[in-house]
Amino acid sequence: MTTVFTDSQMPDSLRRERLYAGDIFVISPNPATHALIDFARELIEAAFAPFDPVLAQHEMPVEKFVEIFGPVKPRFIHHPRTKELLREVVRSLGADLTETYIDVPRLRGVTSGGYLTAGVGYAFPPHRDIWWSAPLAQINWWLPIYDIESESSMAFHPTYWDRAISNGSEEFNYYVYNATGRAQASQHIQQDTRKQPGPREPVDPEPQVRVVCPVGGIIGFSAAHLHSTVPNTSGRTRFSIDFRTVNAADLRAGRSAPNVDTYCEGTSLRDFRRGSDGAPMPDDLVAMYDSGEIPEGAVLVFDPTQAGQM
Ligand SMILES: [Fe+2]
Repeated sequence: MTTVFTDSQMPDSLRRERLYAGDIFVISPNPATHALIDFARELIEAAFAPFDPVLAQHEMPVEKFVEIFGPVKPRFIHHPRTKELLREVVRSLGADLTETYIDVPRLRGVTSGGYLTAGVGYAFPPHRDIWWSAPLAQINWWLPIYDIESESSMAFHPTYWDRAISNGSEEFNYYVYNATGRAQASQHIQQDTRKQPGPREPVDPEPQVRVVCPVGGIIGFSAAHLHSTVPNTSGRTRFSIDFRTVNAADLRAGRSAPNVDTYCEGTSLRDFRRGSDGAPMPDDLVAMYDSGEIPEGAVLVFDPTQAGQM
């Protein structure tokens, strides 16, 4: 059973417990989320001017869209202002910043009607983020930047919460992915040939749960949830922000979502920084969750500024 909590007042520790059990939290807009969204809009709108970003796909060939949107992603992700605004968002969620480690946020654009389905506009088929070496204790947070509809939202597939499916995670090594797959996003326009650890058997998309929240609202869910990008048929490009958090006390104590079908090597834990002061993830915690070999030429932490895009 998956419960969707809206504006729950429970403390962060209890909320994390529920998230690790597969529940979903929807939180109303607040000044901190609005500030982050406004900043993202500023960058997106400056890049697409004079066009309205959500309609710009109808005004230009897809190559031009990629040329405009590609560079906005790293600009947003690594902007010092983004870091500050994100910290305030996490604080507004009621998390203890001295225990909460945050990954850099992602900025995504999902165009309508199959205009761009690869690279910078990659629409994810059903997946669990933990197949990409995310820790089982990872919590994902997702915010729409412009109004969304059911036809441009994301979907959860809760029957798979405790049901294993065959997937490519057993062939996935995070450090190899950092060295190869991630660097090439903007080169993929017609077809995405990056190796992704997706499902290897048909996934029944029903029943599915879609959550439509207003701009500035946030959806929180476990990285172990099977979820997907809804094929966008709204006629408008969907722009969204997502970011991830992990709680150090939970990592230390081994509290997390269950693992039903994930076998990848490596860990993305080194990507996280402490909310209060930007300190790196302690080595002993990384060691607790690291696995497999570190192959030659592999990269422990991906630096998107080197690739220019992601
Ligand atoms: Fe995901």
